[in-house]
Amino acid sequence: MARILVVEDDPDSAVVMQRMLTKGGGHQVEVTEDAAQVVALCRAGAVDLVLMDVSLTNSRCQGKPVDGLQLTRMLKGDAQTAQLPVLLVTAHAMHGDRESFLKQSGADGYVVKPIEDYETLLGTLKGCLSRSGGQPTQWGKGGHERGTVESGEGQLDQIADRIHKVSTIPHLALQIVEVVHNPRSSAADLKTVLETDHSLAARLLVTLNSTAYDLPAPVDRLLAAVSFVDLTEVTNLALTALIGDMFKKDVAVGSYNRNGVWQHMICVGLGARLVAARAGVENFEEAYLAGLLHDFGIVLIENYLHEAFVEIVTGVSPKRPLWEVEQEYLGFDHTQLGARVAEHWRLPASTRAAIRYHHDSDRCDGGDKVIVQAVETANFLCSAKGLSSVGTQYIGTPSKSTLRGLSITREGFRVLWDDLDHELVKVQALINI
Ligand SMILES: [Fe+2]
Ligand SMILES: [Fe+2]
Repeated sequence: MARILVVEDDPDSAVVMQRMLTKGGGHQVEVTEDAAQVVALCRAGAVDLVLMDVSLTNSRCQGKPVDGLQLTRMLKGDAQTAQLPVLLVTAHAMHGDRESFLKQSGADGYVVKPIEDYETLLGTLKGCLSRSGGQPTQWGKGGHERGTVESGEGQLDQIADRIHKVSTIPHLALQIVEVVHNPRSSAADLKTVLETDHSLAARLLVTLNSTAYDLPAPVDRLLAAVSFVDLTEVTNLALTALIGDMFKKDVAVGSYNRNGVWQHMICVGLGARLVAARAGVENFEEAYLAGLLHDFGIVLIENYLHEAFVEIVTGVSPKRPLWEVEQEYLGFDHTQLGARVAEHWRLPASTRAAIRYHHDSDRCDGGDKVIVQAVETANFLCSAKGLSSVGTQYIGTPSKSTLRGLSITREGFRVLWDDLDHELVKVQALINI
């Protein structure tokens, strides 16, 4: 628990923030817009962190109006309060605002209003508090560029932007996803897209003719294959082939290797599709892509924050989930980074939701929840079968409400456990595609 001072002039925002910080984060919260009180509380050492609204309409200092930037500058210019972490909170989110506000005020981080992802904010606070407690984050220790000390959320934005600039999901994969998700698209549209890339079509045919698919007769054209195999199955193969190209270079760090995480993601894709189909989910096919990409954030951290990742992997144990270790080192985890990048890449909503909430589907609202529940359940089943993403990490069992949401009984869960093995015979063919 930390003592957080919320400097806010809007009573509604203050109430929401206070509730979230106390109930969601277990923190002790004080709210004020009185500049003199802010300075007094901070100087008295009664505060561990300040969340400072930038626009303060009623705050005055020595009779003059003062905004959040000036107030932060005052705290940072006072030797007694200079080390106190201050995060700016503002609805001003124009390009360049962050850098400008941080520079003007000397604040430690920046949070954009309205706050949509409270979990990220709580992670940001945790990271900031741990830094102020004299424990530098491994992100800083890793020697990455860091002009201003950024908050966890600031780092998250920065890294997601950087990844978006240098890497993206193959264009053809996005085209396929778009056609699949467009209700006005026909099977003919999908076949046309699939056949635009001849080398892809050839790779798909090799896989479809392998023993894993056991077709009654060999096929030499995708159109012919579709008479034996469902078109969505061919689509899933194509997506696996295209996305799998991003995993071709193997990287090993302790108990982690990139091929291993890719194998895990394929297993979870197959498992999530099976679970969703058993649960009678109408759009159960969407569960495959959602499962296939659910841990994509791990590969992003491994690739773009490699030095921190090396230390994170060593911290994983059967008693600790990976995301918890990531939160500790980075102030955010693979679900948050994966979801941010998935947004940039315009992946379907159900895939984005699964990437973000596959470790706790109870927190997901909306129509995609059942797909997320299927991915969470498949993630647990695959990890319990020894097909985990990183070493032997702790993966919580799906909650009762998750299984209720999927209408899975205890007996149904046991059947799923057995049936998943039949589904996983395709894994090798999918890895080699
Ligand atoms: Fe995960
Ligand atoms: Fe996973």
